[in-house]
Amino acid sequence: MQEPKAYIEENKDRFLNELIEILKIPSISADSAFSHDVLHMAEIVEKSLQAAGCSHTEICETEGYPIVYGEHMIDPSLPTVLVYGHYDVQPPDPLDLWDSPPFEPVIKQTNLHPEGAIYARGASDDKGQMYMHVKALEYMVNNKVLPCNVKFMIEGEEEVGSNSLVTFVKDHKEKLANDIILISDTGMIAKDIPSVTAGLRGLSYVEVEVTGPNRDLHSGLYGGAVANPINVLAKMIASLHDENNHITIPGFYDKVQELSKEERAAMAEAPFNIEDYKRALDIEEVYGEKGYTTNERNSIRPTLDVNGIWGGYTGEGAKTVIPSKAYAKISMRLVPDQDWHEITDLFTAHFESIAPKGVRVKVTPHHGGQGYVTPVENIGYKAAEKAYTTTFGRSPIPERSGGSIPIVALFEEEMDSKTILMGFGLDSDAIHSPNEHFGVGNYLKGIETIPYFYQYFTELSK
Ligand code: BES
Ligand code: MN
Ligand code: MN
Repeated sequence: MQEPKAYIEENKDRFLNELIEILKIPSISADSAFSHDVLHMAEIVEKSLQAAGCSHTEICETEGYPIVYGEHMIDPSLPTVLVYGHYDVQPPDPLDLWDSPPFEPVIKQTNLHPEGAIYARGASDDKGQMYMHVKALEYMVNNKVLPCNVKFMIEGEEEVGSNSLVTFVKDHKEKLANDIILISDTGMIAKDIPSVTAGLRGLSYVEVEVTGPNRDLHSGLYGGAVANPINVLAKMIASLHDENNHITIPGFYDKVQELSKEERAAMAEAPFNIEDYKRALDIEEVYGEKGYTTNERNSIRPTLDVNGIWGGYTGEGAKTVIPSKAYAKISMRLVPDQDWHEITDLFTAHFESIAPKGVRVKVTPHHGGQGYVTPVENIGYKAAEKAYTTTFGRSPIPERSGGSIPIVALFEEEMDSKTILMGFGLDSDAIHSPNEHFGVGNYLKGIETIPYFYQYFTELSK
């Protein structure tokens, strides 16, 4: 294959400018005020697929935001790679913590990225990573080195649970038929230490509502005599972990796959510096489940976290009040073989059971999904390994990630397809946070590595 490096060098300014253009579109799926921008973004993605050489593209309408589909089929006897990505982004708030506006991308040099990093919401998650695949296709088509068939499926609801995609996949199995699914929506260990994401956690996301008296009350007249829903909710939440930070929901750990001593030892080999980790977060000490290392706590162990909690008076000054209601959003990260429906039920039953008399509790499930583990003996994994080795000069480390991409398990269930997670982001990219960014070097390295995956996957499929 003619090397992608020269082509990338020649076109890198254009590749960067094109990414900057799509990062200007605030395609925030969670906020309906931006629905016009989300729809506009879908059109831009379709155009970019056409420009990159897809011979057929479509905007597939759904009940929610559309799925952009594109394909370039060169020979039915060759393997087919299905690329998945998402064009929606997380809300950018809190806005005042951004050093530059989230939808006005700028390239800034940093210690970690002396060649520059692009700052914008979606730079790393997932517009930048998704667009690497579009540019890799452009390279392969223009240089006549595309070795197999390719399909793209880029959705606009990933950050809100991929509801429409579930139906779309079930209804279009033939259209989406493939030999491997390829996703860049995760990270790697460090800039010069490539890794293949070998697993993802599952998720159960619920909202809880605790109701006390039928109206807000004067906290002097009623305080101490009726249950304060916020006090009660805080106590209930606190009781969900014991003194060792184990989760107390009965049955929660029943199906958790424990790793063998050998597997844990292999995990501990991955380069990791706890002092750097603490320094980057400005914390004195790490915190978590007793008996597990930091890397185990954030990947192979299940967790329960409050994502938001509110109620009562939070405005300026002081108001004396016993609120009628208190709320919290709670997520549980799950590991193989925990079933997210089952865990949601266990949570609900337990949460209701620990509520004291004097309050009522309502649990509303939001969304969820199963975890995933990539089989490392799969030829897709081997192709990714070879691709990274070619462009980074060292073989990648398999790494179980703590994040979730719930549709990956669904792809396996519905299409019987394995997924290869070739992420080029870094933990320091600040995805979902203020000042999200993506290293220019990471972006270009991704574009360079992807064509090798196609080449090796096609060779290994023979
Ligand atoms: N790309 C992320 C997931 C991710 C990031 C996995 C880094 C591994 C490493 C994805 O867009 C995401 O944010 N997923 C959500 C879940 C989704 C159902 C909202 C998550 O993990 O919180
Ligand atoms: Mn993502
Ligand atoms: Mn995300």
